[in-house]
Amino acid sequence: MDIRKVVIPVAGWGTRSVPASKNIPKEMLPIYDKPVIQYIVEEAVKAGIRDVVFVASQNKKVVEDHFDYNPALEMVLREAGKTALLDKVLHAAELVNIMSVRQKKQLGLGHAVLCAREIVGHDDAFACTVGDDLMFGENVPAGIPQLVKVAQEHNMPCIGVMEVPADKVNRYGIAMGDEIEPGIIKVSGLVEKPAVGTVSSRLAIVGRYVLTSDIFSYLDKVKPGAGGEIQLTDALAMRAADRGLLAVKMNGLRFDAGDWVDYLAANVYFGLRDEKIHDDLLKRIRSLVQA
Ligand code: UTP
Repeated sequence: MDIRKVVIPVAGWGTRSVPASKNIPKEMLPIYDKPVIQYIVEEAVKAGIRDVVFVASQNKKVVEDHFDYNPALEMVLREAGKTALLDKVLHAAELVNIMSVRQKKQLGLGHAVLCAREIVGHDDAFACTVGDDLMFGENVPAGIPQLVKVAQEHNMPCIGVMEVPADKVNRYGIAMGDEIEPGIIKVSGLVEKPAVGTVSSRLAIVGRYVLTSDIFSYLDKVKPGAGGEIQLTDALAMRAADRGLLAVKMNGLRFDAGDWVDYLAANVYFGLRDEKIHDDLLKRIRSLVQA
């Protein structure tokens, strides 16, 4: 299974993140010194993926621009001798190849993936990740690299899952099935945002996928649900029933940048990982907690 591209839908309204996301896409909000989307693209690069397909809406041009050169800023940094900062700016520009497709109406994640059909539809398989959800493993592959490995070993599309508390299942797509190997589940059913107490599984779909090109014909068959949204989960449920699907328990930490507690926790986490600011930041947090 050859996986060269990652599809990243970034066309959503980001209503949970207003007013911060009123004019700045939530995918561009910073987590410490980088925008959310850079962490996600870097995760895909760890899986050897260099071609990124953004599914974008009108006001998301800055997302693409972040992965391009900025000659004026580069010249200022070069002339000022700020080479470490210049390297950081160039790193983002040289990380990946960018392609972009428009989602003209925000009709949900499934619809966003469908918009990428012309670009990825001829590939055997492709990775897909939401643009607002960070995954990070300290010494283990987490997120897309972990999924790509399992998908290639089993020659099967895969979804990333994590266990959530029983009273939070109504916020996620939930996967049911049998564990065929440690951490790998053969999916027997998927349900989008079930009411609390109606499902026994607590395995939540966390926005990481390796999809095969047949997903597009399943997406064609999905009927719009609540709010007219076309759910990727519904297409995946059809694929699971017809030809199989694996769910993989994701390693590492997850931060949903569209949720304020997770967003702030991610800033603290990545700030504390930088030894240049670790001690000062910790001191400041301790004094704020005691205040
Ligand atoms: P979310 O449901 O978290 O994003 O979608 P949202 O709709 O932008 O946010 P809220 O709930 O209103 O705060 C997960 C990812 O899918 C993209 C989003 O941009 C985000 O990266 N998405 C969602 C699309 O590209 N198109 C859509 O129609 C919906």
